[in-house]
Formats: sequence, C-alpha cells, structure tokens
Amino acid sequence: MIVRDGTLDDVQQMSAFLRELTALGKRLSPDDEEFVQRYYIEGEDKIRCSVADDEGAVLGFQSLKIARAGNQWGVEPGWGIVGTHIRPSAARRGVGRALFEVTRKAAEDAGLAHIDASIGANNPEGLAYYEAMGFRTYRTSMDLICKRFDISR
Ligand SMILES: CC(C)(COP(=O)(O)OP(=O)(O)OC[C@H]1O[C@@H](n2cnc3c(N)ncnc32)[C@H](O)[C@@H]1OP(=O)(O)O)[C@@H](O)C(=O)NCCC(=O)NCCS
Repeated sequence: MIVRDGTLDDVQQMSAFLRELTALGKRLSPDDEEFVQRYYIEGEDKIRCSVADDEGAVLGFQSLKIARAGNQWGVEPGWGIVGTHIRPSAARRGVGRALFEVTRKAAEDAGLAHIDASIGANNPEGLAYYEAMGFRTYRTSMDLICKRFDISR
C-alpha cells in the first residue's frame, strides 16, 4: 500500500465506499461523485487529500483543509480540518495510521499549529482513532466531540 495524492481518477472509488459508509450509518454528509470531486479533490481550501492505494484499489482517504472565517464547523480560522474515510472492508489494518503520517507532515509543511477533527459523539471508532493519533478533546456540543492535534516544532 502506498499513500499518494488523490486525483480525479480516484473519485469513483472514493464515492463508492463513502456510499458504503452512509449505508452503515457512519456518514451523514453527501457521498456522490460530484461532491467528492468538488469538496475533496478540487476544494479551494484543500491543503492535501491523500489516498491509500493498494495496487489500484483505494482503501481510504484523508482530507486536510484550512479553516476559513465562518467555516461550517466553527473551527478557529487558520487551523487545519481533517476528515478520514476508510473502506469498511479495509478498517483496522493501519490505513488510517498511514494516512495520518502524511497528513501530519503536510500540516507541518503548511505551517499549521493545530488540526481539528470533529467527530460524531456516537462514533466510538472515530473517537478512538483520533485519540490514538494524538488528538485530544477541546470542545463538545450536543452531538459532536471536537478533538485537536497540536503540531510540535
Ligand atoms: C475511524 C477510522 C477512520 C479508523 O481508520 P482505520 O484505518 O480503521 O484505523 P487504523 O487501523 O489505522 O487504526 C489506528 C488506531 O486507531 C484506533 N482504532 C481504529 N479503529 C478502532 C476501532 N474500531 N476501535 C477501537 N480503536 C480503533 C486503534 O488505536 C488503532 O491502533 P491499533 O489497531 O494498533 O490498536 C475508520 O474506521 C473509518 O473510516 N470509519 C468510518 C468513518 C469515520 O468514522 N471517520 C472518522 C470520524 S469523522
């Protein structure tokens, strides 16, 4: 498995497993190809969108964006915003861990000081994953737990 930059050629596979996550109740945001292309691959706030590629099979992806003023997540402007999506059949095999190594480096290179991960309070694996990557809770709302990763220099 390699981690590389996501491209338009990956959109179909990314959308396909986002639809699987939706069907499992693990995703509420849009999952169609147009959204994946616009939001993850071509998003204007994108710092990096990495995919984990196993001989052409996309096992997961991780998006890192910069928070702009007034962003929908209420994240402090200038922080990074991360999102992680792993193909269900590839879960718990280290794909998310490999993706975060690259995302963390991209955040460092972009000069970020903090990264936000906003996770559904009812998503124990998402919470456990970000905690294992070194994120810590810094604010909560009714249905979200927001964790922060501090980039040390
Ligand atoms: C949560 C998610 C991103 C984890 O990705 P992953 O590739 O399965 O994670 P990894 O295999 O790299 O696991 C890294 C560490 O995270 C923790 N972790 C991951 N999944 C876990 C689970 N189901 N239960 C408990 N801990 C878990 C563990 O500490 C793990 O290390 P270990 O396997 O050595 O014990 C993935 O399951 C996913 O995409 N879920 C659906 C979408 C989602 O919830 N996204 C994140 C919140 S927005």
